[in-house]
Amino acid sequence: MNNLRNLRGTADLMPDQLIKWQNVESILREQLQRSSVKEIRTPIIEMTELFERGIGETTDVVSKEMYTFLDRGERSCTLRPEGTASVVRAIINNGLSNNSYQKLWYMGPMFRYERPQAGRQRQFHQLGVEYIGSNSPRSDVELISLAWDILQKLGIKNLNLEINSLGDIEDRENYQNSFIEWLESNYKLLDIDSQKRVKKNPLRILDTKNSETQNLLKNAPVLIDFLSQKSLDRYALIKENLDFLKIPFIENVKLVRGLDYYTHTAFEITSGELGSQATVCGGGRYDNLIKQIGGNDSPAIGFAIGLERLMLLVGKNFEIKRDIDVYIINKGMRAEAMAHKLSSKLRKYDVITEMDVSGSSISKQLKKANKCKTKSIIVIGEEEAMKNQFKIRLFSNNKDKEKIINLDDDDGLEKWLKNIIPDYSA
Ligand code: HAM
Repeated sequence: MNNLRNLRGTADLMPDQLIKWQNVESILREQLQRSSVKEIRTPIIEMTELFERGIGETTDVVSKEMYTFLDRGERSCTLRPEGTASVVRAIINNGLSNNSYQKLWYMGPMFRYERPQAGRQRQFHQLGVEYIGSNSPRSDVELISLAWDILQKLGIKNLNLEINSLGDIEDRENYQNSFIEWLESNYKLLDIDSQKRVKKNPLRILDTKNSETQNLLKNAPVLIDFLSQKSLDRYALIKENLDFLKIPFIENVKLVRGLDYYTHTAFEITSGELGSQATVCGGGRYDNLIKQIGGNDSPAIGFAIGLERLMLLVGKNFEIKRDIDVYIINKGMRAEAMAHKLSSKLRKYDVITEMDVSGSSISKQLKKANKCKTKSIIVIGEEEAMKNQFKIRLFSNNKDKEKIINLDDDDGLEKWLKNIIPDYSA
């Protein structure tokens, strides 16, 4: 039994670590709510075909990294490697793909069979945001500025926003023709994976991880030179608006992103503090995906933030946990029953309660209360229990702030709580 461990590339999140996650998540939720973005939850497991058709069969994610298996009914199922395809499917299935503008978010685990390293796991978490139903560049700007503002709100410094435009299908076809010509004339110098992609999906060669091919690609034609005037104008408008919003960005003509569904705007937010896995947020426009998966011809744009990477970037101030407000010390059978009753009563209020269940001596329980930095204590010893009373006091031993209250005196308890927690709410 000893060698039963969690799978490589997965991680347990223990209570102390989760304080930071929960604090960050509550700010994320607050920011999304303030921007009228609504939550959507989709299954973690989907038909494999959804990702093959949505993300693209020749992408690394689909061809090498998916957790795919046959279920007991012989259906090919996949643990979601990302959220966009699932959100699009959900919208189509629920008859919402021709609705007007929809702003949606989701948060949860994703699965990719990648080589684990710092900031890269096989089970990781994303916060994703999808704005569906508008092809206006304003939607691109609104979405990018939301991603930027969220990271600013979390106090993360030294971020770089990189953007590029991948144009529309026609621009890409024009580019692809001359790129293939170039690839064919350099065929022998390409790595084997890239050679296979020349015929199947040449654009994917642009995100190769092979350093020699990457070097070679420095001399390849670039997509931006093949964009139509319309696509360039669209891109220019987005850059102008980002300037207006004072969101600094760098244009990166090599940024193509690893998933096939992107059109026009592609962007990534990176941090120098993350080492080789520097991208904390990635996204872009996907105007053809909804139709491709079987819905209406509806444009869309979105991004996802990697939460493990986000947690590496946020400061220590997110690790602060709320202390216990009331620690209930009790000794003896009757005191224990009263402690249960009190603990249940206190759940009505916004106070954090801990009840000692050790049955050890009052002095030992006091020491424990001291250790967990409680703001106040309730003591029910045998004497108090006999009188159906409890003693409540600020833990500083300040006798002025001590009171004896009857177990049934709810008003008395409330008044006292008001004393220690000024913004308490019933
Ligand atoms: P992605 O670039 O594949 O995009 O992933 C987004 C973010 O998820 C990455 O920037 C990174 O922070 C995090 N991430 C990805 N893989 C891992 C991993 N193995 N371990 C830890 N973190 C990881 C998407 O997934 C798109 N669905 C984003 C999108 C939404 N585009 C449009 N809408």
